[in-house]
Amino acid sequence: MIKKCLFPAAGYGTRFLPATKSMPKEMMPVVNKPLIEYGVEEAIQAGMDSMCIVTGRGKHTLMDHFDKNYELEHQISGTDKEALLTDIRRLIDSASYTYIRQREMKGLGHAILTGRELVGDEPFAVVLADDLCVNEGDGVLAQMVELYKQFRCSIVAVQEVPESETHKYGVISGQMIKDDIYRIDNMVEKPEKGTAPSNLAIIGRYILTADIFELIEKTEPGKGGEIQITDALLKQAHSGCVLAYKFKGMRFDCGSVEGYIEATNYCFGKIYQV
Ligand code: G1P
Repeated sequence: MIKKCLFPAAGYGTRFLPATKSMPKEMMPVVNKPLIEYGVEEAIQAGMDSMCIVTGRGKHTLMDHFDKNYELEHQISGTDKEALLTDIRRLIDSASYTYIRQREMKGLGHAILTGRELVGDEPFAVVLADDLCVNEGDGVLAQMVELYKQFRCSIVAVQEVPESETHKYGVISGQMIKDDIYRIDNMVEKPEKGTAPSNLAIIGRYILTADIFELIEKTEPGKGGEIQITDALLKQAHSGCVLAYKFKGMRFDCGSVEGYIEATNYCFGKIYQV
Protein backbone atom coordinates (compact mmCIF):
# COMPACT_ATOMS: atom_id res chain seq x y z
CA MET A 1 0.00 0.00 0.00
CA ILE A 2 2.47 2.67 1.18
CA LYS A 3 5.95 1.51 0.28
CA LYS A 4 8.11 4.59 0.58
CA CYS A 5 9.24 6.45 3.63
CA LEU A 6 11.01 9.79 3.42
CA PHE A 7 13.47 10.86 6.10
CA PRO A 8 14.36 14.55 5.99
CA ALA A 9 17.84 14.40 7.54
CA ALA A 10 19.74 17.38 6.26
CA GLY A 11 19.32 19.62 9.32
CA TYR A 12 22.22 20.74 11.47
CA GLY A 13 20.87 19.61 14.84
CA THR A 14 22.00 22.84 16.45
CA ARG A 15 20.11 22.09 19.67
CA PHE A 16 22.61 19.32 20.30
CA LEU A 17 25.87 21.13 19.68
CA PRO A 18 28.68 20.34 20.17
CA ALA A 19 27.74 16.63 19.76
CA THR A 20 26.34 17.36 16.30
CA LYS A 21 29.23 19.50 15.09
CA SER A 22 30.56 16.72 12.90
CA MET A 23 28.05 13.92 13.59
CA PRO A 24 24.56 13.89 12.05
CA LYS A 25 21.89 14.27 14.74
CA GLU A 26 20.12 11.25 13.26
CA MET A 27 23.13 9.15 14.27
CA MET A 28 22.88 10.04 17.97
CA PRO A 29 22.45 6.71 19.76
CA VAL A 30 19.58 5.97 22.09
CA VAL A 31 21.16 3.15 24.11
CA ASN A 32 23.02 1.35 21.32
CA LYS A 33 21.01 2.29 18.21
CA PRO A 34 21.11 5.52 16.25
CA LEU A 35 17.87 7.48 16.12
CA ILE A 36 17.35 6.92 12.41
CA GLU A 37 17.45 3.16 12.93
CA TYR A 38 14.40 3.37 15.20
CA GLY A 39 12.60 5.31 12.47
CA VAL A 40 13.54 2.75 9.80
CA GLU A 41 12.38 -0.10 12.05
CA GLU A 42 9.04 1.65 12.46
CA ALA A 43 8.69 2.11 8.69
CA ILE A 44 9.53 -1.53 7.95
CA GLN A 45 7.08 -2.68 10.60
CA ALA A 46 4.45 -0.60 8.76
CA GLY A 47 5.14 -2.52 5.52
CA MET A 48 7.44 -0.03 3.79
CA ASP A 49 10.43 -1.26 1.83
CA SER A 50 11.93 1.84 0.32
CA MET A 51 13.73 4.34 2.55
CA CYS A 52 14.30 7.69 0.87
CA ILE A 53 16.72 9.82 2.81
CA VAL A 54 17.24 13.53 2.24
CA THR A 55 20.77 14.26 3.36
CA GLY A 56 23.12 17.19 3.38
CA ARG A 57 26.77 18.01 3.84
CA GLY A 58 28.62 15.86 6.39
CA LYS A 59 25.97 13.14 6.53
CA HIS A 60 27.91 10.29 4.91
CA THR A 61 27.82 8.18 8.09
CA LEU A 62 24.07 7.80 7.51
CA MET A 63 24.77 6.09 4.22
CA ASP A 64 27.50 3.94 5.74
CA HIS A 65 25.16 2.81 8.49
CA PHE A 66 22.74 1.21 6.03
CA ASP A 67 25.49 -0.55 4.13
CA LYS A 68 27.85 -3.44 4.73
CA ASN A 69 31.12 -2.85 6.56
CA TYR A 70 33.17 -5.77 5.26
CA GLU A 71 36.23 -5.16 7.40
CA LEU A 72 34.29 -4.95 10.65
CA GLU A 73 32.05 -7.88 9.77
CA HIS A 74 35.03 -10.03 8.88
CA GLN A 75 36.72 -9.05 12.12
CA ILE A 76 33.83 -10.07 14.39
CA SER A 77 32.61 -12.99 12.30
CA GLY A 78 32.10 -16.07 14.46
CA THR A 79 32.39 -14.13 17.76
CA ASP A 80 29.55 -13.35 20.14
CA LYS A 81 29.72 -9.69 19.00
CA GLU A 82 28.14 -10.69 15.72
CA ALA A 83 24.70 -10.87 17.35
CA LEU A 84 24.86 -7.09 17.84
CA LEU A 85 24.57 -6.67 14.09
CA THR A 86 21.51 -8.90 13.69
CA ASP A 87 18.97 -6.05 13.77
CA ILE A 88 20.75 -3.71 11.39
CA ARG A 89 21.46 -6.54 8.94
CA ARG A 90 17.76 -7.36 8.88
CA LEU A 91 16.92 -3.73 8.16
CA ILE A 92 19.50 -3.56 5.36
CA ASP A 93 18.11 -6.72 3.77
CA SER A 94 14.46 -5.68 4.13
CA ALA A 95 14.53 -2.37 2.28
CA SER A 96 16.28 -0.28 -0.34
CA TYR A 97 18.01 2.93 0.71
CA THR A 98 18.25 5.88 -1.62
CA TYR A 99 19.65 9.32 -0.94
CA ILE A 100 19.35 12.79 -2.30
CA ARG A 101 21.17 15.89 -1.12
CA GLN A 102 19.41 19.04 -0.05
CA ARG A 103 21.87 21.77 -0.89
CA GLU A 104 20.14 24.60 0.95
CA MET A 105 18.20 24.49 4.20
CA LYS A 106 14.91 26.16 3.39
CA GLY A 107 12.62 24.36 5.81
CA LEU A 108 10.83 21.03 6.22
CA GLY A 109 8.52 21.67 3.25
CA HIS A 110 11.55 22.26 1.03
CA ALA A 111 13.26 19.12 2.38
CA ILE A 112 10.18 17.06 1.53
CA LEU A 113 10.01 18.61 -1.95
CA THR A 114 13.69 17.70 -2.44
CA GLY A 115 12.68 14.06 -1.86
CA ARG A 116 10.18 14.16 -4.73
CA GLU A 117 12.54 12.51 -7.17
CA LEU A 118 12.96 9.54 -4.86
CA VAL A 119 9.28 9.26 -4.00
CA GLY A 120 7.65 9.81 -7.40
CA ASP A 121 3.91 9.92 -7.81
CA GLU A 122 2.60 7.83 -4.94
CA PRO A 123 1.49 8.30 -1.33
CA PHE A 124 4.39 8.13 1.11
CA ALA A 125 5.28 8.43 4.77
CA VAL A 126 7.55 10.99 6.39
CA VAL A 127 9.52 10.33 9.57
CA LEU A 128 11.39 13.00 11.50
CA ALA A 129 13.90 10.74 13.20
CA ASP A 130 14.45 12.97 16.22
CA ASP A 131 10.87 12.30 17.28
CA LEU A 132 11.29 8.80 18.68
CA CYS A 133 7.94 7.00 18.95
CA VAL A 134 7.32 3.78 20.82
CA ASN A 135 4.26 1.66 21.39
CA GLU A 136 3.68 -1.80 22.83
CA GLY A 137 1.51 -2.77 19.84
CA ASP A 138 1.70 -1.41 16.30
CA GLY A 139 4.05 1.53 15.82
CA VAL A 140 2.67 4.95 14.91
CA LEU A 141 3.32 4.54 11.18
CA ALA A 142 1.57 1.16 11.10
CA GLN A 143 -1.43 2.77 12.85
CA MET A 144 -1.42 5.58 10.28
CA VAL A 145 -1.21 3.19 7.32
CA GLU A 146 -4.35 1.44 8.60
CA LEU A 147 -6.08 4.80 8.70
CA TYR A 148 -4.84 5.69 5.22
CA LYS A 149 -6.44 2.51 3.87
CA GLN A 150 -9.81 3.80 5.07
CA PHE A 151 -9.53 7.48 4.21
CA ARG A 152 -6.98 7.79 1.35
CA CYS A 153 -5.85 11.28 2.26
CA SER A 154 -2.91 12.93 4.00
CA ILE A 155 -2.66 12.27 7.72
CA VAL A 156 -0.55 13.93 10.42
CA ALA A 157 0.15 12.41 13.83
CA VAL A 158 -0.73 14.66 16.76
CA GLN A 159 -0.46 14.60 20.52
CA GLU A 160 -1.83 16.82 23.25
CA VAL A 161 0.76 19.16 24.71
CA PRO A 162 0.49 21.73 27.50
CA GLU A 163 -0.54 25.17 26.25
CA SER A 164 2.85 26.53 27.32
CA GLU A 165 4.50 24.25 24.72
CA THR A 166 2.33 24.86 21.65
CA HIS A 167 4.71 27.50 20.23
CA LYS A 168 7.27 24.74 19.52
CA TYR A 169 5.05 22.81 17.11
CA GLY A 170 2.71 22.89 14.18
CA VAL A 171 -0.72 23.00 15.86
CA ILE A 172 -4.00 21.86 14.31
CA SER A 173 -7.67 22.35 14.96
CA GLY A 174 -10.51 20.38 13.49
CA GLN A 175 -13.63 18.38 13.98
CA MET A 176 -13.42 15.02 15.64
CA ILE A 177 -14.93 12.56 13.16
CA LYS A 178 -14.16 9.40 15.13
CA ASP A 179 -12.26 8.56 18.29
CA ASP A 180 -8.82 10.19 18.02
CA ILE A 181 -9.35 11.26 14.37
CA TYR A 182 -9.89 14.89 13.41
CA ARG A 183 -10.67 16.48 10.08
CA ILE A 184 -8.35 19.47 10.02
CA ASP A 185 -9.78 22.94 9.40
CA ASN A 186 -6.83 24.99 10.57
CA MET A 187 -3.16 24.49 11.25
CA VAL A 188 -0.50 26.97 12.28
CA GLU A 189 3.26 26.49 12.37
CA LYS A 190 4.70 27.44 15.76
CA PRO A 191 1.94 29.85 16.83
CA GLU A 192 2.83 32.79 19.04
CA LYS A 193 2.14 32.14 22.70
CA GLY A 194 -1.56 32.38 23.50
CA THR A 195 -2.70 32.11 19.85
CA ALA A 196 -2.64 28.35 19.21
CA PRO A 197 -5.87 26.99 17.68
CA SER A 198 -5.80 24.03 20.14
CA ASN A 199 -3.34 21.96 22.15
CA LEU A 200 -3.01 19.27 19.46
CA ALA A 201 0.60 19.40 18.28
CA ILE A 202 1.93 17.74 15.14
CA ILE A 203 4.70 15.26 15.80
CA GLY A 204 7.16 13.98 13.22
CA ARG A 205 5.04 11.36 11.46
CA TYR A 206 3.08 12.11 8.29
CA ILE A 207 1.40 10.24 5.48
CA LEU A 208 1.21 12.46 2.43
CA THR A 209 -0.51 12.06 -0.90
CA ALA A 210 1.65 12.96 -3.90
CA ASP A 211 -0.28 16.13 -4.79
CA ILE A 212 1.43 17.69 -1.75
CA PHE A 213 4.51 18.31 -3.93
CA GLU A 214 2.70 20.78 -6.17
CA LEU A 215 1.20 22.47 -3.15
CA ILE A 216 4.66 22.86 -1.58
CA GLU A 217 5.93 24.35 -4.83
CA LYS A 218 3.25 27.02 -4.52
CA THR A 219 3.89 27.65 -0.83
CA GLU A 220 5.61 30.90 0.08
CA PRO A 221 8.14 30.96 2.92
CA GLY A 222 6.28 31.15 6.25
CA LYS A 223 7.39 30.93 9.87
CA GLY A 224 11.10 31.64 10.22
CA GLY A 225 11.33 32.47 6.49
CA GLU A 226 11.16 28.73 5.74
CA ILE A 227 8.90 26.71 3.46
CA GLN A 228 6.66 24.93 5.92
CA ILE A 229 4.95 21.60 5.30
CA THR A 230 2.27 22.82 7.72
CA ASP A 231 1.31 25.64 5.30
CA ALA A 232 1.16 23.28 2.30
CA LEU A 233 -0.97 20.84 4.30
CA LEU A 234 -3.39 23.60 5.24
CA LYS A 235 -3.97 24.25 1.53
CA GLN A 236 -4.54 20.54 1.03
CA ALA A 237 -6.99 20.52 3.95
CA HIS A 238 -8.94 23.41 2.44
CA SER A 239 -9.08 21.95 -1.05
CA GLY A 240 -9.75 18.36 0.03
CA CYS A 241 -9.16 16.59 3.30
CA VAL A 242 -6.29 16.19 5.78
CA LEU A 243 -6.70 14.17 8.95
CA ALA A 244 -4.97 14.45 12.29
CA TYR A 245 -4.58 11.27 14.28
CA LYS A 246 -3.98 11.13 18.01
CA PHE A 247 -1.76 8.07 17.96
CA LYS A 248 -1.37 5.31 20.51
CA GLY A 249 2.04 5.25 22.11
CA MET A 250 4.70 7.58 23.46
CA ARG A 251 6.86 10.14 21.74
CA PHE A 252 10.19 11.51 22.89
CA ASP A 253 11.58 14.74 21.51
CA CYS A 254 15.14 13.56 21.00
CA GLY A 255 16.07 16.91 19.48
CA SER A 256 16.10 18.25 23.06
CA VAL A 257 18.46 17.12 25.77
CA GLU A 258 15.61 16.35 28.21
CA GLY A 259 13.67 14.27 25.68
CA TYR A 260 16.81 12.45 24.63
CA ILE A 261 17.64 11.47 28.20
CA GLU A 262 14.04 10.37 28.82
CA ALA A 263 14.13 8.23 25.66
CA THR A 264 17.45 6.73 26.70
CA ASN A 265 16.16 5.82 30.15
CA TYR A 266 12.96 4.40 28.72
CA CYS A 267 14.71 2.29 26.07
CA PHE A 268 17.38 1.15 28.50
CA GLY A 269 14.60 -0.10 30.79
CA LYS A 270 12.93 -1.93 27.88
CA ILE A 271 16.09 -3.48 26.47
CA TYR A 272 17.73 -4.45 29.74
CA GLN A 273 14.47 -4.86 31.65
CA VAL A 274 15.50 -2.95 34.74
C1 G1P B 1 8.73 20.30 12.61
C2 G1P B 1 7.41 20.78 12.00
C3 G1P B 1 6.38 21.03 13.11
C4 G1P B 1 6.22 19.80 13.96
C5 G1P B 1 7.59 19.32 14.50
C6 G1P B 1 7.46 17.97 15.19
O1 G1P B 1 9.29 21.35 13.35
O2 G1P B 1 7.64 21.96 11.26
O3 G1P B 1 5.15 21.39 12.55
O4 G1P B 1 5.35 20.07 15.04
O5 G1P B 1 8.52 19.16 13.43
O6 G1P B 1 8.67 17.58 15.74
P1 G1P B 1 10.82 21.34 13.87
O7 G1P B 1 10.80 20.66 15.21
O8 G1P B 1 11.62 20.59 12.85
O9 G1P B 1 11.21 22.78 13.99
